[in-house]
Amino acid sequence: MTDYPQFISPIVSELPEEGVLSCSAPSNIALVKYWGKRPIQLPENTSISFTLDNCKTTTILKYKRRNVVGEDFDFDLLFEGKPKPDFKPKIQNFLYRIQEYLPFLKQYTFMIETSNTFPHSSGIASSASGMSALAYCLVQLEKKINPDISDSELLQKSSFLARLGSGSACRSIEGPITVWGKHPYIDGSSDAFAIPFPFLVHQNFNNYQDTILLIDKGEKQVSSTVGHDLMHDHPFAAKRFEQATDNSTKLKEVLISGDLDAFIQIVESEALTLHAMMMTSLPYFILMKPNTLLVLQKIWEYRAATGSKICFTLDAGANVHILYPYTEKKEVLGFITNELVAYCQNGQYICDKIGFGAKLL
Ligand code: PMV
Repeated sequence: MTDYPQFISPIVSELPEEGVLSCSAPSNIALVKYWGKRPIQLPENTSISFTLDNCKTTTILKYKRRNVVGEDFDFDLLFEGKPKPDFKPKIQNFLYRIQEYLPFLKQYTFMIETSNTFPHSSGIASSASGMSALAYCLVQLEKKINPDISDSELLQKSSFLARLGSGSACRSIEGPITVWGKHPYIDGSSDAFAIPFPFLVHQNFNNYQDTILLIDKGEKQVSSTVGHDLMHDHPFAAKRFEQATDNSTKLKEVLISGDLDAFIQIVESEALTLHAMMMTSLPYFILMKPNTLLVLQKIWEYRAATGSKICFTLDAGANVHILYPYTEKKEVLGFITNELVAYCQNGQYICDKIGFGAKLL
């Protein structure tokens, strides 16, 4: 029996015979990091993220009633127009996990056509945008079957389902800032789905910019499944989860007050702590590259010399996200093109900014 009966939907009307739905969902970048989970995809700590805008996945979901309902799911997948057999087990597992919440899944043959705006194997995780786009499409299909579902229920259920595909994907359904994981001072927060940051955000964060430097586009050294598992016997795990809760409390205040110096301190410390956890686990990993460190050093020098409010954050890889206020866009882009592009693989970087989540196209 599920712990979340509110997400089990009745089939109240005739199932549509066939149709097409198209949705997009963006990636997101965590400010307070999620690293460590319990089954199934429940976070060990609260995380808070910026939803992105340009880095997104578009998914076209074609559905057709099956003549005979089979034992298993019936779906095919095209990624950027081509079959992608290695994505299928992940989707199969996702459908398996969500079937009790969408009881019509086995009644359909699905064709899932998906594409990303960011380059393939750029080191930018496509699982957050991909899983949230697919979850959002499936809940839009549910809306055709169960038209009484309200907009807020639809968003919450999409986030709940996306989480079962890839934890951090639940933070991509809404924007511009989301919170995932129960927190004592954030009303409505939950381990089961993300919610939009429920306080008035200071205007300093309006249109906040994220320029992603592609330092190393190689295959991920550590999958996030392996990475999260490393926290199980990690000597610093308990302290880390406590620290993330404290940092979420502090970041909440900072997002309200607009204190950018405090923002920088929390965000950079969180990024380095994520990497410190990987360096101190068994087995241990260093996911930064020499150029990652050179970029971080340059950012600190630039900040000291100019008083700029730029800062960095990192994912579980070598790429650097540079976060800065919209008011500094021109100067920071000048700094990036003059001084940082040299450290990017093939000079590649992506200009993004805070965005608003999944859309029905
Ligand atoms: O959602 P997953 O299982 O791919 O984990 C993502 C973990 C980080 O990106 C490193 C941090 C985060 O909170 O997004």
